[in-house]
Amino acid sequence: MRKVIIITAFAGFGMLAACSGNANEGEIKKLNERITALENELEELKETAGPGLAELMNQNYGHLQKLETAIAEGNWEYAEFCMHEMEETFEKIEYIHNNHDELVQPASEQFKAFIYPVFESLEAAVEAHDEPKAADLFINLKTNCGKCHTANNHGFIAL
Ligand code: HEC
Repeated sequence: MRKVIIITAFAGFGMLAACSGNANEGEIKKLNERITALENELEELKETAGPGLAELMNQNYGHLQKLETAIAEGNWEYAEFCMHEMEETFEKIEYIHNNHDELVQPASEQFKAFIYPVFESLEAAVEAHDEPKAADLFINLKTNCGKCHTANNHGFIAL
C-alpha cells in the first residue's frame, strides 16, 4: 500500500510540474520514466514478496474442506466464515497473480467464468440454511475449481 501512495505522490508531482509551466520537457520525461519504473517494481514486489499462487490455492483447499464439513453438520456460521475467507483469497489471487505464468487467461476472467456464479448461489443457500441445496452447490463449486485446473493444464490437481 505504501508503494501505491508513493507512486500516486509521484504522479501528482509530475502533473503539478507539468501545470506550473516551470518544468521543462526533459524533467517531465524523467519523472514519467521514474513512475513507470516504480510501477514495474510494484508489480514485481507483489509477485515475489506476497504469497505464491500455489500457497493461496492451498488456503482455498483448506477452507473448501472445512466448508464441506460445516455444511454437512449444519454449522452455518462456520460455513459463512469459510466462504468469507475464500472470497478474500480469491481477491488476493486476482490482485497478486492476475497474470501468473501458469494461467492461460487472467485469473479475474477465469474466476468470473468458473467460480463466482456458483459461489454466489452457494452463499445464498448457506444463508438460507438450506442443507440439500448447499450440499449440491458445494459439489458444483468443487467441480468448477477442477475445471479451472484443467483449463490451465493442471488437471492433475484433483481435489
Ligand atoms: C483461475 C483458475 C483456477 C481456479 C478458479 C482455481 N484454481 Fe487452483 N490452481 C490453479 C493453478 C494454475 C494452479 C497451479 C499453481 C502453480 O503452478 O503455482 C492451482 C493449484 C491448486 C492447488 C495445488 C497447490 C499445491 O501446492 O499443491 C490446489 C490444492 C488448488 N489449486 C485448489 C483450488 C480450489 C479449492 C479451488 C476452488 C475454490 C481452485 N483451486 C480454483 C488454477 C485455478
